Amino acid sequence: MSEPYYKQHWIEIDPERHAAYDQILAYHPAMEPILRPLELRAGLNVLDVGSGPGHTTLELARRVGPSGKVTGVDINAEFVARASARAHEQKANVEFVHSAFPPLPFPDRSFERVFCKNVLEYVDSAPATVAEMARVAADGGIVVAIDSDWDMLALDLGPESSEQIERVLAAAKSIAIKEPKIGRRLYGIFRAAGLADVSVEIMAGADTVGRSLPMLKSSLSRYARDSGRVSSAEVERWLGAIDQAVSSGRFFFALPQFVVRGIKP
Ligand SMILES: C[S@@+](CC[C@H](N)C(=O)[O-])C[C@H]1O[C@@H](n2cnc3c(N)ncnc32)[C@H](O)[C@@H]1O
Repeated sequence: MSEPYYKQHWIEIDPERHAAYDQILAYHPAMEPILRPLELRAGLNVLDVGSGPGHTTLELARRVGPSGKVTGVDINAEFVARASARAHEQKANVEFVHSAFPPLPFPDRSFERVFCKNVLEYVDSAPATVAEMARVAADGGIVVAIDSDWDMLALDLGPESSEQIERVLAAAKSIAIKEPKIGRRLYGIFRAAGLADVSVEIMAGADTVGRSLPMLKSSLSRYARDSGRVSSAEVERWLGAIDQAVSSGRFFFALPQFVVRGIKP
C-alpha cells in the first residue's frame, strides 16, 4: 500500500463498496439542514470538496439551476467517472475533477460557495484543506463543512455487547479515520483559516431502525477487520449482534454531525 490506509481505502474501492456508498451517500430531504447554511440560489458557482458518488453534488446543481455551475473534486477515479455519467444523464451543469487534496486544483477566489461533507476526517491535513477551501472561495463567499465526531459515536445493542462494540469501533477508527475528533475541531480550524462569522450547528438524529446498517456493515466492519486488531470472528459476532438488536427493536445508533459555516472576508 503506497498511502496510509485512511487515504488508500478511498483510492481503491471494490464494486460491493461502491454499491454500498450509493445507499450510504444518497441524497435525502432530511439533509436540508446541512444545505441551508449555503444559502443557494440560481446562478451560483459552487465547489463540492470530496464529492464521492455525487448524489449531493447533483442536488446542489438542481438548486443553482442551469445558470449556475457546480464542480466536484475527489480522489477516487471511479466516483468521478460514475458521478460524471449521472450528471450527463441528468443534463446537470456539473463537472467532476479527479484530484487528491490538499491542495485544491483551482485558482484563488473561484467559487461563491464551497461545501465539504464527511471528508475532512480522511485527509492528510484538515487545517490545510480548510485553508484551501478558504483560498478558492470568492470574497464574501460562504464556506460550509459537515463532519462527524467519531469519538461521540453512540451505539447500543444491549449490555452484553458493550465491550465488543468498543473494541470493534476502536479497531476501525485506528486505521480508517485520520482525525476522529474532526467535528469538535472544525470551529477552531475555520477560525484559523481566517474565515469570519463562524457558526456551528450540531445535528444528532437517533437511528433506532437500522438506517445506519450499510455504514456499519460495509465500512466500519471492514475497517475493523483490515486493522488486524480484532479477529474476523469477532467482527462477525458484532454484525450478528447488530442484526439481532435491529430485529428485536433494541438497536440504537447516533453520530453527531457538526455543520460549520464561515464567510470569506
Ligand atoms: C464519506 S465520503 C463523502 C462523499 C460526499 N461528500 C458525500 O457526502 O456524499 C468521503 C469522500 O472523500 C474523498 N476523499 C477522501 N480523502 C480524500 C483526499 N485526500 N483527496 C480527495 N478526496 C478525498 C473520498 O474519495 C470520498 O469520496
